[in-house]
Amino acid sequence: MMRVANLFLIFLVFAIHHLRCSSIMPESLPASSSEQPYRTAFHFQPPQNWMNDPNGPMYYNGVYHLFYQYNPTGPLFSDHMHWAHSVSYDLINWIPLDLALSPTKSFDNISCWSGSATILPGNKPVMLYTGIDSENRQVQNMAVPKDLSDPYLKEWVKYTGNPVINLPDGIQPDDFRDPTTAWLAEDGKWRIIVGSQKDKMGIAFLYQSEDFINWTKFDSPLHKVAGTGIWECPDFFPVWIDNKKGVDTSVMNLRVKHVLKVGLFDYAKDFYMIGNYSPEKENYVPQNELTPSTLRYDYGKYYASKSFFDPVKNRRILMAWVNESDSEADDIAKGWSGLQSFPRSLWLDQNQKQLVQWPIEEIEMLHENKVSILDKKLEGGSLHEVVGITASQADVKISFKLSNLEEAEELDPSWIEDPQLTCSKKDASNKGKFGPFGLLALASNDLTEQTAIFFRVFKNNGRYIVLMCSDQSRSSTKNGIDKTSYGSFVDINPQQDEISLRTLIDHSIIESFGGGGKTCITARVYPTLAIGKEARLFAFNNGTESVVISELSAWSVKKALINVKKTISCTDQ
Ligand SMILES: *[C@@H]1O[C@H](CO)[C@@H](O)[C@H](O)[C@H]1NC(C)=O
Ligand SMILES: *[C@@H]1O[C@H](CO)[C@@H](O)[C@H](O)[C@H]1NC(C)=O
Ligand SMILES: *[C@@H]1O[C@H](CO)[C@@H](O)[C@H](O)[C@H]1NC(C)=O
Ligand SMILES: *[C@@H]1O[C@H](CO)[C@@H](O)[C@H](O)[C@H]1NC(C)=O
Repeated sequence: MMRVANLFLIFLVFAIHHLRCSSIMPESLPASSSEQPYRTAFHFQPPQNWMNDPNGPMYYNGVYHLFYQYNPTGPLFSDHMHWAHSVSYDLINWIPLDLALSPTKSFDNISCWSGSATILPGNKPVMLYTGIDSENRQVQNMAVPKDLSDPYLKEWVKYTGNPVINLPDGIQPDDFRDPTTAWLAEDGKWRIIVGSQKDKMGIAFLYQSEDFINWTKFDSPLHKVAGTGIWECPDFFPVWIDNKKGVDTSVMNLRVKHVLKVGLFDYAKDFYMIGNYSPEKENYVPQNELTPSTLRYDYGKYYASKSFFDPVKNRRILMAWVNESDSEADDIAKGWSGLQSFPRSLWLDQNQKQLVQWPIEEIEMLHENKVSILDKKLEGGSLHEVVGITASQADVKISFKLSNLEEAEELDPSWIEDPQLTCSKKDASNKGKFGPFGLLALASNDLTEQTAIFFRVFKNNGRYIVLMCSDQSRSSTKNGIDKTSYGSFVDINPQQDEISLRTLIDHSIIESFGGGGKTCITARVYPTLAIGKEARLFAFNNGTESVVISELSAWSVKKALINVKKTISCTDQ
């Protein structure tokens, strides 16, 4: 009773401060947590139905906006996608609003697909999005807020002259989508890219415009790579070469490099390149190639991401769609499908070879019950339970110190090609020398259910190589779930650096950050025993060599107010 009363009080206070009655649709509360063990506490999700790509994230006049692909009629993907809309003052608690875009006009009446926000001079937001038109062609459309004095920008008006960009010659009608945030070039014209393909060559078409209405395509795309299939949800933005702050999308100088991220539909994964953009040549020269084994934002379930520059805290924020791993029948039973990742800030690593990602600091608002462990030796084959926190809703940081590294196993060179495969062959029950060691998340009392996030250290030509894995093979006793193991290498030197792991655990999602955010892995899991208060958390070492936990800090994470629809009437205020 106490808990219910508290929650109600928090909600009431929150409602008075932030909610405007007129914008809230009354709706019953989501089913109780015992009926819905996989709903999350601090990850963004709508109260029900299907959600996928984040769209048009932006900060405008004190408010963060997130739009997202949404099917208002059910828990599965639909041929008629809409843009749903939520706003936030802190990127943690989210207020649901009415749908922002629905398929209604000849230029988008089959579907309103993904797009991006740009803030034009004079502080005017504008949205470019892909419409599937009445002839089943993908075209690019524009929409603007109806009333700039509305603090939530609830209503959006489509430009009557849409589409602003038609399908280019020689491109299939379903291969042209997802316009980016525009950047302003030195010639005073805006630039955007749009994802496409021709004969399996992935393409980022480049356009320019003075007025955001009349767009002209450059003959050469910004970039293209043969054999990669269609590029979805491209993102193109600068990062400082020498600090962790974010950079506004239009900044162009010698202190930045440019990131080109593309979602490869054929792999359902987000890949990125780091490189140099020359505005005078209108081309992009990446320093790393785009291949299936190249850099990815996340080596687990994480797709269709989009970033935006947050001018308040001077950072670039990244959000992505995290798909389900259960079956369509499960989604129908749950009544929903899809989450957004916890927002991450991202920046260029000191070595300028990769990006680093880290959960935004606002998560600290939700921390409670901190527990710590210092300098604890974990013998080979041992477990250490982390008690005193809610293990199903937690933020855990752990770092390991290793000595006698010369005892490490030799790396088999064939493992380098496919670290994910190595992780599934050498799961957490497969003893090595240094490793597997790490965390057992969402573990049941008898350990039949557990998700192990762990490291292994190998010797290779006088160097040491660190592999990071997320092993879902024992995550649930349920069948019909995709329990693929994920993994990648972490670019650190364990002779100098401790091996660190941070893991966000939220009922059915586990987001892990290895090596301070150099390697990220997100997993979806559906335990049947390790749910709610039954879930346990351990540090473990299943190698033969001992390791030392130099430091562990863990917190329970409180429930955020995410898209909770108002159930009290306005007069209650
Ligand atoms: C879209 O518009 C076309 C012509 O304007 C119409 O024939 C078609 O029925 C519409 N489709 C939907 C799904 O509303
Ligand atoms: C559109 O822009 C192009 C190039 O910037 C220009 O040549 C053309 O005249 C413009 N068209 C209209 C209708 O303004
Ligand atoms: C979503 O998850 C299902 C089940 O694991 C998988 O088959 C599908 O490829 C995923 N789709 C995307 C876009 O991630
Ligand atoms: C450690 O290895 C043993 C033997 O292979 C296995 O039974 C046990 O489940 C493993 N522990 C973990 C946490 O995977």
